[in-house]
Amino acid sequence: MAESLVLRGGTVVHTDRLAREDVLVVDGKITGVGIDIEAPSDARVLDASDCLVGPGFVDLHTHLREPGGEEAETVATGARAASLGGYSAIVAMPNTTPAIDCAAVVAQVLTLGRLTGIDVQVAGALTRGREGHSLAPMAEMAALGVTMFTDDGMGVQDSGLMRRAMEYARGLGVVVADHCEDEALAGTGSMNEGSLSARLGLEGRSALAEEVMVARDLALAELVGCQLHLLHLSTGRSVELVVDARKRGVDVSAEVAPHHLILTQDLCSTYDTLFKVHPPLRTQRDVDALRLALADGSLDAVATDHAPHPPQSKDRPFADAAPGMLGLEQAFALTREALGGASADPIRIFEVLSRRPAAIARLRTHDARLGGHSAHGGDVEVGDDANLCVVDLDARPIVDPERLASRARNTPYAGRVMQGAVRHTIARGDAVVIDGEAQR
Ligand code: DOR
Repeated sequence: MAESLVLRGGTVVHTDRLAREDVLVVDGKITGVGIDIEAPSDARVLDASDCLVGPGFVDLHTHLREPGGEEAETVATGARAASLGGYSAIVAMPNTTPAIDCAAVVAQVLTLGRLTGIDVQVAGALTRGREGHSLAPMAEMAALGVTMFTDDGMGVQDSGLMRRAMEYARGLGVVVADHCEDEALAGTGSMNEGSLSARLGLEGRSALAEEVMVARDLALAELVGCQLHLLHLSTGRSVELVVDARKRGVDVSAEVAPHHLILTQDLCSTYDTLFKVHPPLRTQRDVDALRLALADGSLDAVATDHAPHPPQSKDRPFADAAPGMLGLEQAFALTREALGGASADPIRIFEVLSRRPAAIARLRTHDARLGGHSAHGGDVEVGDDANLCVVDLDARPIVDPERLASRARNTPYAGRVMQGAVRHTIARGDAVVIDGEAQR
C-alpha cells in the first residue's frame, strides 16, 4: 500500500492555469488539491516551495540496454536515472540483445520494469531482430500492452516493408515510430555533413538522409492512414515537412531530443566522441528552428534518446565510436533552457515533457495488462493516479558525470550549469525521489 504524502507550498501546473496549491496523495491517488489542505497526521510532508508541481514526466525514448548491454545500463539503473530526472514513466527502446521483437522479450523487460519505482513501458521492434527484412510478430506484443513499434537505432530502409508495418499497425491500433535516416545517404558518416565535416576530415551524415525518410514516412502514413510518430527530429526542414503533412490531415506526432535543442555540430571540432550521436548534432540554424517549433507546438514532445554506452565503446576514434549520449537526468533543465529559461512557459514545459508524450504512448489511462501501468500526464486533479514531479526553478546544479545514477558516464553536459533541478518525483503514489535523492 502506498504512503500518504502532501506537497506543500508549490505552484501546480494544470493544463490551462497555474495555481498556488498543496497536493495530497493517499494510496496512490491524488485525494486533495487546494490551498493549505488538511492532511492525515501521518502524511509525509514534502516541501514544494519555489517549485512547480506537475504531472510526472514521460520519456518516449529511453535506451535501457537490458537484455544484453547491462554493462552500460539496466532496467533498474535506467529507471532510477529517470526518476531523478522527474520521470514517472519511460518507454524502453527495443535495440537490445536480443532485440525486443517478440512477446517473450517484451514480457522479460516489463517484468523487470515492475520491480522499479516507476512505470516502464516497452516499444516493440517493427522487424525481426531489427534487421529490416521481415515483420516482427506485432500482434503478440500488442496483446501484452505494447502500443509503439520501432526499429530505433536504424530506420526501416525497405519502403514496401514499412508500408506493410503501417498496415498492421493500423489494424492493431498501435503507433509506428521511426528513426528517420536513409542508410544509403547517411553511409558511414559520423557527424553532420557540411564544410565543417570536410574541414575536420570526418565523413558527413547529411540532413537529407533524415529528411528523405521523414518525407517517405509521412507519405506512407497518409496513404495507409496509420498513426506515425517521428523520433528525434534534428533539422528545421524535417519540422516543415511534418507541419505540411499535418495540414493535409496526416496523423503524425514528432519528438526532439534535448541535445538537438542545446548542442551544435561545432562541438565535434573537439573530436570528443561524447558529441557523436545519430542523427548528428546539426547547425545553430537547426537548433533555432527546433526551439521555435517546440514552443509553437509544431514539435509535440521532448524525448531524451538516453543512450548509455560503456567507456570502451566511446574511447575510440570518432568515426568508430558508438553514437549516443545520456539525457534522462538533465532533460527538464535543458528543455526549460530551450523554451526560454526563466521566461519559459511552465504549461508548455509540462506539455512537452509529460502530457503530450503520455498521450502519444497511450499512457494517459490505467492499463491492467502485463504492461500494467498507472495513468500519466494528467491535469493534477482529485482522482488522478499520483504521478507527479516537483521542479525547483531556482536551483543551478552543475553536471558531474561521477554523480549520475546511470551506469554509464557518457554525458555531453559535464560542467554545465543547469537551469533548474528536480526536487521530488512521485510515481504510483510513492515518493521515489526526495530532495534530489533517489529513494530506491
Ligand atoms: O545515437 C544514437 N544512439 N541514436 C540512436 O538512434 C540509437 C542510440 C543508441 O542506442 O545508442
